[in-house]
Amino acid sequence: MSELDPLISSLPKCELHVHIEGTLEPELMFALAARNKIALPFESVEAVRRAYQFSQLQDFLDIYYQGMSVLITEQDFFDLAWAYLLRAQADNVRHVEMFFDPQGHTGRGVAFETVVNGLHRACRAAAAELGISASLIMCFLRHLDEDDADRTLDQAQGHLDKIIGVGLDSSEAGRPPSLFKNVFRRARDSGLHLFAHAGEEGPPDYVWQALDVLGVERVDHGNRSLEDDTLVRRLARDRMPLTVCPLSNLKLQVVKDLRQHPLRHMMECDLVVTLNSDDPAYFGGYVNDNYRALQQSLGLTRDEIVVIARNGFTAAMMTPDDRRQALARFDDVLAGLSR
Ligand code: ADE
Ligand code: ZN
Repeated sequence: MSELDPLISSLPKCELHVHIEGTLEPELMFALAARNKIALPFESVEAVRRAYQFSQLQDFLDIYYQGMSVLITEQDFFDLAWAYLLRAQADNVRHVEMFFDPQGHTGRGVAFETVVNGLHRACRAAAAELGISASLIMCFLRHLDEDDADRTLDQAQGHLDKIIGVGLDSSEAGRPPSLFKNVFRRARDSGLHLFAHAGEEGPPDYVWQALDVLGVERVDHGNRSLEDDTLVRRLARDRMPLTVCPLSNLKLQVVKDLRQHPLRHMMECDLVVTLNSDDPAYFGGYVNDNYRALQQSLGLTRDEIVVIARNGFTAAMMTPDDRRQALARFDDVLAGLSR
């Protein structure tokens, strides 16, 4: 327990990098498997947790796609998102932009509208009942081809009021962002915001492509940007936010030890970093756990924690009015804590 834990718990926060399918806790996985009469290749919740040992991104993805097979009905998607939103509320998360992977569901026969309607219903309920603004970002799976992403964007056309943007996730190695240039252009023409995972395992060139070929508004992870000084200056100049996920980086061995996590170095380079949980059910921690773990490993100061949490609101896709209000509340909470 650190003396900064109360600050971490009390600050209003944003979560800008969370895969809703990655919030599926083993208990809910078993409950949904029973409800949908699906056999799981695990005998118990503990056996599932024991299987969460990864040496790289692909190890995790294999088990993540297997886990989501229990999600069948609109109610399942609602229950998944609602469980996460309740957990986020406990961490004082006030604004969420959650990723979902429609191709992980349509590819096994679940209709696009089943997925999006269930998740969107939970987002609406979060605003009404939890005071959390929550929205959806539809990710394209980059291990599939651009035609598949195009068909997914076609399916989304009748649901654009429920989705704020598109992202790019799944296996990064050998799958550069430029492969998805046309579908991202179509998404932009449909009025959607653009995001992409880049520089998690892939090289700095993939971050350049996310910026210059896709035209993203945030970079998800971006760790390997630090290998390219020109890229770092570009990210800093443009105030391009990075959604950093420390416990994910540790679990997927992007970093060997949290004491070597590059977050402080990113801040010294003037990068706009935000802290996020990625796939908390698989990586052992929600948003506040990520703050606490990094605070302890890097010795983050009170001021650094405040900057990081504040960055979340700067990097969020909010209207200027909503941002002003959210930041005013943030400053009120901070002033109350200093008294
Ligand atoms: N899908 C879910 N989590 C992911 C991650 N960390 N990287 C790429 N794709 C993902
Ligand atoms: Zn991610």
